[in-house]
Amino acid sequence: MADAADAEAFAAEVGGFPIILKTVRGGYDGKGVWFVRTPEDAHEAFLAGVQVLAEEKVDFVRELAANIVRSPHGQAVAYPVVESRQVDGVCDTVIAPAPDLDEELAGQAQELALRIAKELDVVGHLAVELFQTTDGRILVNELAMRPHNSGHWTQDGAITSQFANHVRAVLDLPLGDPRPRAPWTVMCNVLGGDYPDMYSAYLHCMARDPQLKIHMYGKDVKPGRKVGHVNTYGDDLDDVLERARHAAGYLRGTIVE
Ligand SMILES: Nc1ncnc2c1ncn2[C@@H]1O[C@H](COP(=O)(O)OP(=O)(O)OP(=O)(O)O)[C@@H](O)[C@H]1O
Ligand SMILES: [Mg+2]
Repeated sequence: MADAADAEAFAAEVGGFPIILKTVRGGYDGKGVWFVRTPEDAHEAFLAGVQVLAEEKVDFVRELAANIVRSPHGQAVAYPVVESRQVDGVCDTVIAPAPDLDEELAGQAQELALRIAKELDVVGHLAVELFQTTDGRILVNELAMRPHNSGHWTQDGAITSQFANHVRAVLDLPLGDPRPRAPWTVMCNVLGGDYPDMYSAYLHCMARDPQLKIHMYGKDVKPGRKVGHVNTYGDDLDDVLERARHAAGYLRGTIVE
């Protein structure tokens, strides 16, 4: 796409606005993704001065991710397919496994990820971000050839984490068991809030929920920046979700008690 006129022509081709424009390089956490509803919106994307590509806007019911690991000698393992929820283009919550996902569709998603890895000769971890469409199909959104945010839950929720399996694959060692340890695991990202010092919030969360696993990255805290994540797991999805959301919100400062 060279300019807004190109974007308009693309929109006409695919049945009209909205369309999505994306930077071809360096995008992450929704940065470099423009939801374009009008020709004026398209101008904004081109003002950034980066090369962009256009996509049809997909009507999805939810976003899923299939995480697999493949080693040079051809061994591969597939983690359960997860649901990934974004807020303002940033991954907020991951639920493992994706609730109410048809077993056949889950199997198709895992097979798709394994096939992509084989055909691209991937060594290590591959995350395939997917859209589950309103008519029950799965479409690939994005590929990440590395441990990925949609696999952070495996650190505490799977027998072998994505990080351990990635290293095993790179060293061509036998891969570890990818199965979950509990019926449900939830990961919530911790975004920076208004307070740069999270230490007292951290203590509160540890004391309030001894089963909670907190992973902070040691980054400077800036509003909206991903600075860590929390994992919870257990038998009851509502409870597991509530505990993860509470901790992530408390650490960010959006929940005060
Ligand atoms: N074609 C599309 N149709 C509808 N929504 C889309 C489309 N492409 C992207 N999105 C939405 O925007 C989000 C971010 O897009 P995408 O995953 O391509 O970018 P990203 O910024 O590179 O994200 P990541 O941090 O995962 O690498 C998606 O998770 C989805 O919610
Ligand atoms: Mg993405």
